[in-house]
Amino acid sequence: MVKKPTIFDPGDGMIVSEVGTWASEKHARVQRYIEIASDTRRKYVPPPAWHAGAAYIELFSGPGRSLIRNTKRIIDGSPLVAFKAAQASVPFTEMHLNDVDASNSSAVEMRIRALGGVPTCYSDPADVAVDKIVSALNPSGLHFAFLDPYNLEGLSFDIIRKLSKLKVDMLIHVSVQDLQRNLDDYSRPGGVFDTFAPGWSAHVDRNQAINSFRAALMKYWMTEIRKLGTMPAKGVELIVGSKGQRLYWLVFVSAHGLGRKLWEAIRDPMKQTAMDL
Ligand SMILES: C[S@@+](CC[C@H](N)C(=O)[O-])C[C@H]1O[C@@H](n2cnc3c(N)ncnc32)[C@H](O)[C@@H]1O
Repeated sequence: MVKKPTIFDPGDGMIVSEVGTWASEKHARVQRYIEIASDTRRKYVPPPAWHAGAAYIELFSGPGRSLIRNTKRIIDGSPLVAFKAAQASVPFTEMHLNDVDASNSSAVEMRIRALGGVPTCYSDPADVAVDKIVSALNPSGLHFAFLDPYNLEGLSFDIIRKLSKLKVDMLIHVSVQDLQRNLDDYSRPGGVFDTFAPGWSAHVDRNQAINSFRAALMKYWMTEIRKLGTMPAKGVELIVGSKGQRLYWLVFVSAHGLGRKLWEAIRDPMKQTAMDL
């Protein structure tokens, strides 16, 4: 396979990733959540010193800047969007950013530092980084995690289980395209669905039409999330591409009712969807 050439941001000389135009849609939700949750966040940010903190967490951070495919436009990646939104309202007490690719991890660290932030960066597989991050944070704080993997393979249920030991609001990107394209492969015994939604095969009939299978799998996944004591908000958002193709769902999960109310206020009600659409 031909290796893709590395692309650099002429503005800072560091690497960028390549994204579709729809990346801005998820960034807009991250930004709005951070803005709208700022009054709540303030209650966790010192002073007083006993306030337990409010951290921003990404396990799949990217390099912090991205080129929009087929254009010359370079945009902030989610960690920079989050940092700037929090600085303009109530800054996070900590940022924990991980990307398995060391060049992404060091680029995002330098970019946040250039803005005056002091992130803690890791370059591990997400399932390793999550343990380091959970043990570094105060479980009494109010944290926000944006989970944005390319595909379902990276999104093991264990990650969500471990994060839910913290008081954390999570915005989770679930790739519909990946689910659709790789359904056969992923549903084999020992396949990706076994880590994404462990136990699924005892609850979801594989021998049904693709749409209803997908819906049943996601319903099971949401039920398992609920069992962790965290609640998925009602409005799952479907992000579609320029040709109307289904790309991904944004699922908001929160341990407290207020978080879900905030999400209701920022999601685009026109795009709310049942997961079987
Ligand atoms: C969709 S991109 C993240 C984009 C970023 N959230 C943004 O909006 O700017 C996914 C990132 O996950 C990283 N990645 C892939 N597999 C991973 C894994 N198992 N653990 C941690 N990071 C991983 C990739 O290197 C890539 O940078």
